[in-house]
Amino acid sequence: MTFHKKISILVGSLRAGSHARQIAINTIGLFPANYHAEILEIRDLPLYDFDYDDPAASNKPTPVEYTRFRESIKDSDGVLFVTPENNRTIPACLKNAVDVGSKPNGDVAWKNKPVAIISHSAGRMGGYSSQKNLRLALSYFDMPTPDQPEVFLSQSPSLINADGIISQVSTINFLQDYITRFTQIVEGHPRK
Ligand SMILES: Cc1cc2nc3c(=O)[nH]c(=O)nc-3n(C[C@H](O)[C@H](O)[C@H](O)COP(=O)(O)O)c2cc1C
Repeated sequence: MTFHKKISILVGSLRAGSHARQIAINTIGLFPANYHAEILEIRDLPLYDFDYDDPAASNKPTPVEYTRFRESIKDSDGVLFVTPENNRTIPACLKNAVDVGSKPNGDVAWKNKPVAIISHSAGRMGGYSSQKNLRLALSYFDMPTPDQPEVFLSQSPSLINADGIISQVSTINFLQDYITRFTQIVEGHPRK
């Protein structure tokens, strides 16, 4: 099957039992059938070091993981972030991915790329600070996004059943509406 659009999903948690990852997997089925949505792994991205992108630092070539990641983002029609909150901001692995995608200045992978964000937490705030901090970090890249609703999934462990499925109809409908709004943005902003 030839897919009409490609969506990369970035998960802000590395642990095997991550609720963010389970939520991300649940969203894949909410995209239209002619979309290919998949998780783009960020675990192996070396910690961001500008020397890797600085031609003057000739002893530190750009890691192949950076190049592959940047190409994958550029080859996407949109990006979906699904993240928990660590110490009131996004987990370090996700910030590292944002930084890697933000360089080099003349060829920023995020630039003009449609974006959607889902945050979650085990508590009642739904990862509010994390999401706001992620929006701040991305604000330099002119990424079109659904303004509303903002998706903060609180008490996330209770949303996911033993099979890893989000079974509550109201939550699925809410996520479906958000993904539909996101795909409308994607359709309106074709890749250049
Ligand atoms: C280092 C660390 C810091 C955390 N800080 C916050 C926080 O500021 N706010 C919050 O709601 N939860 C916080 N938590 C709880 C995590 O958000 C919670 O464990 C969440 O389920 C992890 O997401 P995951 O299931 O996708 O791995 C923190 C957890 C860790 C390990």
